Amino acid sequence: MSHKVGILTGGGDCPGLNAVIRAVARRLHANGWEVLGIREGWRGLVDGRFSPLGLQDVSGILPRGGTILGTSRTNPYKLDDGVERVLATFRDSELDALVAIGGEDTLGVAARLHAEHEFPVVGVPKTIDNDLSATDYTFGFDTAVSIATEAIDRLHTTAESHNRVMVVEVMGRHTGWIAVMSGIAGGADVILIPEHPLTVEDACAEIERRHERGKDFSIVVVSEGYELTYSSGESRMVAGEARATDQFGHVVLGGVGDVLAREIEARTGFETRVTVLGHVQRGGTPTARDRVLATRYGLRAAQLVHERRFGLMAALHGDKIVDVSLAEATAEIKTVPPDWYEVARAFFG
Ligand code: F6P
Repeated sequence: MSHKVGILTGGGDCPGLNAVIRAVARRLHANGWEVLGIREGWRGLVDGRFSPLGLQDVSGILPRGGTILGTSRTNPYKLDDGVERVLATFRDSELDALVAIGGEDTLGVAARLHAEHEFPVVGVPKTIDNDLSATDYTFGFDTAVSIATEAIDRLHTTAESHNRVMVVEVMGRHTGWIAVMSGIAGGADVILIPEHPLTVEDACAEIERRHERGKDFSIVVVSEGYELTYSSGESRMVAGEARATDQFGHVVLGGVGDVLAREIEARTGFETRVTVLGHVQRGGTPTARDRVLATRYGLRAAQLVHERRFGLMAALHGDKIVDVSLAEATAEIKTVPPDWYEVARAFFG
Protein backbone atom coordinates (compact mmCIF):
# COMPACT_ATOMS: atom_id res chain seq x y z
CA MET A 1 0.00 0.00 0.00
CA SER A 2 1.34 3.47 -0.87
CA HIS A 3 1.79 6.08 1.83
CA LYS A 4 1.81 9.58 0.43
CA VAL A 5 0.58 12.65 2.26
CA GLY A 6 0.24 16.26 1.14
CA ILE A 7 0.44 19.31 3.41
CA LEU A 8 -1.05 22.71 2.64
CA THR A 9 -1.28 26.03 4.47
CA GLY A 10 -4.24 28.28 3.61
CA GLY A 11 -5.64 31.70 4.55
CA GLY A 12 -3.66 34.45 6.27
CA ASP A 13 -0.21 33.28 7.29
CA CYS A 14 0.76 33.22 10.95
CA PRO A 15 3.77 32.39 13.08
CA GLY A 16 4.01 28.65 13.78
CA LEU A 17 2.97 27.31 10.36
CA ASN A 18 6.48 26.06 9.68
CA ALA A 19 6.63 24.40 13.09
CA VAL A 20 3.52 22.37 12.17
CA ILE A 21 4.92 21.49 8.73
CA ARG A 22 8.15 20.28 10.36
CA ALA A 23 6.36 18.18 12.98
CA VAL A 24 3.99 16.53 10.48
CA ALA A 25 6.79 15.84 8.00
CA ARG A 26 9.27 14.55 10.58
CA ARG A 27 6.77 12.16 12.19
CA LEU A 28 5.32 10.86 8.92
CA HIS A 29 8.75 10.37 7.34
CA ALA A 30 9.66 8.33 10.42
CA ASN A 31 6.51 6.26 9.85
CA GLY A 32 7.47 5.53 6.24
CA TRP A 33 5.31 8.10 4.45
CA GLU A 34 6.33 10.17 1.47
CA VAL A 35 5.52 13.84 2.15
CA LEU A 36 4.60 16.40 -0.52
CA GLY A 37 4.21 20.15 0.02
CA ILE A 38 1.24 21.72 -1.75
CA ARG A 39 1.88 25.32 -2.82
CA GLU A 40 -0.32 28.23 -1.74
CA GLY A 41 -3.22 26.55 -0.03
CA TRP A 42 -6.09 25.11 -2.04
CA ARG A 43 -4.73 26.85 -5.15
CA GLY A 44 -1.96 24.26 -5.22
CA LEU A 45 -4.47 21.44 -5.48
CA VAL A 46 -6.54 23.29 -8.08
CA ASP A 47 -3.48 23.97 -10.27
CA GLY A 48 -1.25 21.02 -9.34
CA ARG A 49 1.63 22.96 -7.78
CA PHE A 50 3.90 21.10 -5.38
CA SER A 51 7.22 21.31 -3.52
CA PRO A 52 9.11 18.34 -2.14
CA LEU A 53 9.09 18.07 1.65
CA GLY A 54 12.03 15.85 2.44
CA LEU A 55 13.79 15.93 5.78
CA GLN A 56 16.29 18.49 4.45
CA ASP A 57 13.45 20.78 3.35
CA VAL A 58 12.00 20.98 6.86
CA SER A 59 15.32 21.34 8.61
CA GLY A 60 15.84 24.66 10.42
CA ILE A 61 12.30 25.98 9.89
CA LEU A 62 10.96 25.67 13.46
CA PRO A 63 11.54 29.34 14.43
CA ARG A 64 10.76 30.80 11.01
CA GLY A 65 7.64 32.94 10.57
CA GLY A 66 5.37 32.70 7.51
CA THR A 67 5.04 29.44 5.61
CA ILE A 68 7.60 27.76 3.38
CA LEU A 69 4.67 26.43 1.30
CA GLY A 70 3.11 29.82 0.57
CA THR A 71 -0.57 30.50 1.17
CA SER A 72 -3.65 31.95 -0.54
CA ARG A 73 -7.32 32.57 0.10
CA THR A 74 -8.35 30.44 -2.88
CA ASN A 75 -11.72 28.78 -2.37
CA PRO A 76 -12.21 25.84 -4.77
CA TYR A 77 -15.97 26.07 -4.25
CA LYS A 78 -15.92 29.53 -5.89
CA LEU A 79 -14.01 28.44 -9.01
CA ASP A 80 -15.43 26.75 -12.11
CA ASP A 81 -14.64 23.05 -11.71
CA GLY A 82 -12.59 23.96 -8.64
CA VAL A 83 -13.64 20.98 -6.56
CA GLU A 84 -13.31 18.56 -9.49
CA ARG A 85 -9.80 19.85 -10.12
CA VAL A 86 -8.84 19.42 -6.46
CA LEU A 87 -10.11 15.83 -6.53
CA ALA A 88 -8.40 15.08 -9.85
CA THR A 89 -5.05 16.57 -8.79
CA PHE A 90 -5.19 14.65 -5.54
CA ARG A 91 -5.91 11.39 -7.38
CA ASP A 92 -3.34 11.97 -10.16
CA SER A 93 -0.64 12.76 -7.61
CA GLU A 94 -1.37 9.44 -5.92
CA LEU A 95 -1.90 11.13 -2.59
CA ASP A 96 -3.52 9.10 0.20
CA ALA A 97 -4.08 11.86 2.72
CA LEU A 98 -3.95 15.62 3.21
CA VAL A 99 -3.08 17.77 6.21
CA ALA A 100 -4.79 21.16 5.86
CA ILE A 101 -3.44 23.86 8.18
CA GLY A 102 -5.78 26.81 8.33
CA GLY A 103 -8.57 28.76 9.94
CA GLU A 104 -12.33 28.65 9.47
CA ASP A 105 -12.13 29.17 5.68
CA THR A 106 -9.43 26.62 4.81
CA LEU A 107 -10.83 24.09 7.26
CA GLY A 108 -14.38 24.86 6.13
CA VAL A 109 -13.38 23.68 2.63
CA ALA A 110 -11.71 20.61 4.20
CA ALA A 111 -14.85 19.80 6.22
CA ARG A 112 -17.05 20.11 3.14
CA LEU A 113 -14.76 18.01 0.94
CA HIS A 114 -14.72 15.34 3.61
CA ALA A 115 -18.52 15.41 4.06
CA GLU A 116 -19.32 15.45 0.34
CA HIS A 117 -16.50 13.34 -1.13
CA GLU A 118 -15.06 11.38 1.80
CA PHE A 119 -11.89 13.35 1.13
CA PRO A 120 -9.12 11.98 3.41
CA VAL A 121 -8.17 15.16 5.25
CA VAL A 122 -6.99 16.09 8.73
CA GLY A 123 -7.03 19.69 10.01
CA VAL A 124 -4.75 21.82 12.17
CA PRO A 125 -6.20 25.03 13.67
CA LYS A 126 -4.27 28.14 12.71
CA THR A 127 -5.14 31.82 13.06
CA ILE A 128 -3.94 34.86 14.96
CA ASP A 129 -7.64 35.65 15.51
CA ASN A 130 -8.25 32.64 17.83
CA ASP A 131 -11.82 32.52 16.53
CA LEU A 132 -12.02 28.82 15.70
CA SER A 133 -14.53 26.71 17.64
CA ALA A 134 -13.78 23.38 19.29
CA THR A 135 -10.27 24.36 20.37
CA ASP A 136 -9.27 26.53 23.30
CA TYR A 137 -6.43 28.16 21.36
CA THR A 138 -5.16 28.31 17.79
CA PHE A 139 -1.43 28.66 17.22
CA GLY A 140 -0.29 32.11 16.07
CA PHE A 141 -2.56 33.85 18.55
CA ASP A 142 -0.02 33.97 21.37
CA THR A 143 2.56 35.58 19.09
CA ALA A 144 0.08 38.21 17.86
CA VAL A 145 -0.92 39.02 21.45
CA SER A 146 2.74 39.34 22.47
CA ILE A 147 3.46 41.73 19.59
CA ALA A 148 0.37 43.83 20.38
CA THR A 149 1.24 43.90 24.09
CA GLU A 150 4.75 45.09 23.37
CA ALA A 151 3.33 47.83 21.15
CA ILE A 152 0.94 48.94 23.91
CA ASP A 153 3.83 49.04 26.39
CA ARG A 154 5.83 51.22 24.04
CA LEU A 155 2.87 53.52 23.38
CA HIS A 156 2.41 54.00 27.13
CA THR A 157 5.69 55.85 27.54
CA THR A 158 5.14 58.21 24.63
CA ALA A 159 1.48 58.77 25.57
CA GLU A 160 2.54 59.72 29.08
CA SER A 161 5.25 62.10 27.87
CA HIS A 162 2.82 64.00 25.63
CA ASN A 163 -0.41 63.73 27.68
CA ARG A 164 -2.07 62.06 24.72
CA VAL A 165 -4.76 59.51 24.07
CA MET A 166 -3.29 56.67 22.02
CA VAL A 167 -5.67 54.52 19.99
CA VAL A 168 -4.21 51.14 18.98
CA GLU A 169 -6.05 49.22 16.27
CA VAL A 170 -5.43 45.48 16.34
CA MET A 171 -6.56 42.65 14.06
CA GLY A 172 -8.99 39.87 14.94
CA ARG A 173 -11.61 40.11 12.22
CA HIS A 174 -15.08 39.71 13.81
CA THR A 175 -13.84 38.70 17.23
CA GLY A 176 -11.98 40.70 19.86
CA TRP A 177 -9.60 38.05 21.21
CA ILE A 178 -6.38 39.90 20.33
CA ALA A 179 -7.78 43.21 21.63
CA VAL A 180 -8.98 41.76 24.93
CA MET A 181 -5.85 39.73 25.67
CA SER A 182 -3.31 42.37 24.66
CA GLY A 183 -5.42 45.06 26.30
CA ILE A 184 -5.49 43.19 29.62
CA ALA A 185 -1.78 42.40 29.39
CA GLY A 186 -0.88 45.97 28.44
CA GLY A 187 -3.17 47.66 30.96
CA ALA A 188 -5.40 49.41 28.40
CA ASP A 189 -7.81 52.01 29.75
CA VAL A 190 -10.57 51.20 27.25
CA ILE A 191 -10.96 48.15 24.98
CA LEU A 192 -13.51 48.09 22.17
CA ILE A 193 -14.45 44.76 20.59
CA PRO A 194 -17.19 43.57 18.23
CA GLU A 195 -18.82 41.16 20.69
CA HIS A 196 -19.49 43.67 23.48
CA PRO A 197 -19.67 47.05 21.75
CA LEU A 198 -19.21 49.85 24.24
CA THR A 199 -20.57 53.12 22.79
CA VAL A 200 -18.24 55.89 21.64
CA GLU A 201 -19.84 58.11 24.32
CA ASP A 202 -19.06 55.57 27.06
CA ALA A 203 -15.49 55.18 25.82
CA CYS A 204 -15.02 58.97 26.00
CA ALA A 205 -16.60 59.03 29.48
CA GLU A 206 -14.04 56.44 30.67
CA ILE A 207 -11.19 58.59 29.32
CA GLU A 208 -12.62 61.73 30.97
CA ARG A 209 -13.07 59.86 34.27
CA ARG A 210 -9.44 58.89 34.12
CA HIS A 211 -8.34 62.45 33.47
CA GLU A 212 -10.44 63.60 36.46
CA ARG A 213 -8.44 61.12 38.53
CA GLY A 214 -5.29 62.97 37.47
CA LYS A 215 -4.15 60.65 34.66
CA ASP A 216 -3.67 62.80 31.60
CA PHE A 217 -2.92 60.07 29.08
CA SER A 218 -4.95 57.02 28.01
CA ILE A 219 -4.50 53.90 25.95
CA VAL A 220 -7.51 52.72 23.90
CA VAL A 221 -7.32 49.32 22.17
CA VAL A 222 -9.83 48.81 19.37
CA SER A 223 -10.42 45.64 17.43
CA GLU A 224 -10.61 46.13 13.64
CA GLY A 225 -14.08 44.55 13.59
CA TYR A 226 -15.59 46.88 16.22
CA GLU A 227 -18.57 48.78 14.80
CA LEU A 228 -18.63 52.39 15.89
CA THR A 229 -21.63 52.33 18.20
CA TYR A 230 -23.45 55.37 19.53
CA SER A 231 -25.87 55.88 22.42
CA SER A 232 -28.53 56.79 19.81
CA GLY A 233 -28.46 53.14 18.73
CA GLU A 234 -26.73 53.94 15.45
CA SER A 235 -23.73 51.78 14.52
CA ARG A 236 -21.24 51.90 11.66
CA MET A 237 -18.70 49.36 10.39
CA VAL A 238 -15.50 50.86 9.01
CA ALA A 239 -14.00 48.74 6.23
CA GLY A 240 -11.11 49.41 3.89
CA GLU A 241 -10.73 49.20 0.12
CA ALA A 242 -14.32 49.90 -0.85
CA ARG A 243 -15.56 47.01 1.32
CA ALA A 244 -13.80 44.54 -0.98
CA THR A 245 -14.42 40.87 -0.32
CA ASP A 246 -12.22 37.82 -0.85
CA GLN A 247 -13.30 34.41 -2.19
CA PHE A 248 -14.70 33.57 1.23
CA GLY A 249 -16.84 36.71 1.27
CA HIS A 250 -14.83 38.60 3.90
CA VAL A 251 -14.84 42.38 3.97
CA VAL A 252 -11.32 43.83 4.16
CA LEU A 253 -11.31 45.44 7.59
CA GLY A 254 -9.19 48.34 8.81
CA GLY A 255 -9.56 52.02 9.55
CA VAL A 256 -11.81 52.04 12.61
CA GLY A 257 -8.92 53.27 14.79
CA ASP A 258 -8.53 56.40 12.72
CA VAL A 259 -12.23 57.29 12.82
CA LEU A 260 -12.40 56.53 16.54
CA ALA A 261 -9.35 58.70 17.29
CA ARG A 262 -10.96 61.65 15.53
CA GLU A 263 -14.20 61.10 17.45
CA ILE A 264 -12.36 60.95 20.78
CA GLU A 265 -10.38 64.11 20.07
CA ALA A 266 -13.50 66.00 18.97
CA ARG A 267 -15.60 64.85 21.93
CA THR A 268 -13.01 65.12 24.76
CA GLY A 269 -10.65 67.79 23.46
CA PHE A 270 -7.67 65.55 24.32
CA GLU A 271 -4.95 65.27 21.70
CA THR A 272 -5.28 61.80 20.18
CA ARG A 273 -3.06 59.69 17.92
CA VAL A 274 -3.66 56.35 16.25
CA THR A 275 -1.39 53.36 15.62
CA VAL A 276 -2.59 50.57 13.32
CA LEU A 277 -0.56 47.44 14.04
CA GLY A 278 -1.70 45.59 10.91
CA HIS A 279 0.33 42.72 9.53
CA VAL A 280 3.17 43.26 12.00
CA GLN A 281 0.98 41.08 14.25
CA ARG A 282 1.38 38.17 11.83
CA GLY A 283 5.05 38.53 11.03
CA GLY A 284 8.27 37.16 12.42
CA THR A 285 9.22 34.35 14.68
CA PRO A 286 6.63 32.50 16.80
CA THR A 287 6.71 32.68 20.60
CA ALA A 288 7.93 29.60 22.45
CA ARG A 289 4.32 28.84 23.41
CA ASP A 290 3.20 28.89 19.75
CA ARG A 291 6.15 26.73 18.67
CA VAL A 292 5.24 24.14 21.27
CA LEU A 293 1.51 24.23 20.47
CA ALA A 294 2.16 24.04 16.72
CA THR A 295 4.52 21.10 17.25
CA ARG A 296 1.98 19.22 19.39
CA TYR A 297 -0.76 19.87 16.81
CA GLY A 298 1.53 18.64 14.03
CA LEU A 299 2.34 15.40 15.81
CA ARG A 300 -1.36 14.71 16.48
CA ALA A 301 -2.26 15.44 12.85
CA ALA A 302 0.48 13.04 11.73
CA GLN A 303 -0.87 10.37 14.06
CA LEU A 304 -4.41 10.80 12.67
CA VAL A 305 -3.06 10.48 9.12
CA HIS A 306 -1.05 7.38 10.00
CA GLU A 307 -4.13 5.81 11.59
CA ARG A 308 -6.20 6.97 8.57
CA ARG A 309 -8.71 8.72 10.78
CA PHE A 310 -9.98 11.55 8.60
CA GLY A 311 -12.45 14.43 8.91
CA LEU A 312 -10.82 15.35 12.23
CA MET A 313 -8.84 18.29 13.56
CA ALA A 314 -6.20 18.42 16.28
CA ALA A 315 -7.44 20.66 19.09
CA LEU A 316 -6.42 21.94 22.50
CA HIS A 317 -8.75 21.27 25.42
CA GLY A 318 -7.26 22.59 28.63
CA ASP A 319 -3.70 21.33 28.41
CA LYS A 320 -4.48 18.25 26.35
CA ILE A 321 -4.26 17.75 22.59
CA VAL A 322 -7.42 15.97 21.46
CA ASP A 323 -9.20 15.40 18.16
CA VAL A 324 -12.53 16.94 17.21
CA SER A 325 -14.59 16.76 14.04
CA LEU A 326 -13.84 19.31 11.32
CA ALA A 327 -17.58 19.87 10.99
CA GLU A 328 -17.84 20.89 14.66
CA ALA A 329 -14.75 23.12 14.44
CA THR A 330 -16.10 25.09 11.48
CA ALA A 331 -19.80 25.29 12.35
CA GLU A 332 -19.50 28.73 13.97
CA ILE A 333 -16.83 31.18 15.09
CA LYS A 334 -15.69 31.36 18.70
CA THR A 335 -16.41 34.77 20.18
CA VAL A 336 -15.09 36.45 23.35
CA PRO A 337 -17.42 35.45 26.21
CA PRO A 338 -18.73 38.11 28.63
CA ASP A 339 -16.55 36.96 31.55
CA TRP A 340 -13.37 37.63 29.55
CA TYR A 341 -14.60 41.13 28.70
CA GLU A 342 -15.40 41.70 32.37
CA VAL A 343 -11.75 41.05 33.26
CA ALA A 344 -10.77 43.78 30.80
CA ARG A 345 -13.51 46.16 31.98
CA ALA A 346 -12.37 45.97 35.59
CA PHE A 347 -9.49 48.27 34.62
CA PHE A 348 -11.27 50.77 32.38
CA GLY A 349 -11.16 54.47 33.19
O1 F6P B 1 -7.47 36.20 9.78
C1 F6P B 1 -6.24 36.77 10.01
C2 F6P B 1 -6.24 38.22 9.62
O2 F6P B 1 -4.96 38.76 9.92
C3 F6P B 1 -7.34 39.07 10.24
O3 F6P B 1 -7.07 39.42 11.57
C4 F6P B 1 -7.39 40.23 9.29
O4 F6P B 1 -8.65 40.85 9.26
C5 F6P B 1 -7.10 39.59 7.95
O5 F6P B 1 -6.43 38.35 8.22
C6 F6P B 1 -6.25 40.41 7.04
O6 F6P B 1 -6.17 39.77 5.82
P1 F6P B 1 -5.12 40.10 4.67
O7 F6P B 1 -3.84 39.41 5.02
O8 F6P B 1 -5.76 39.52 3.46
O9 F6P B 1 -4.94 41.58 4.63
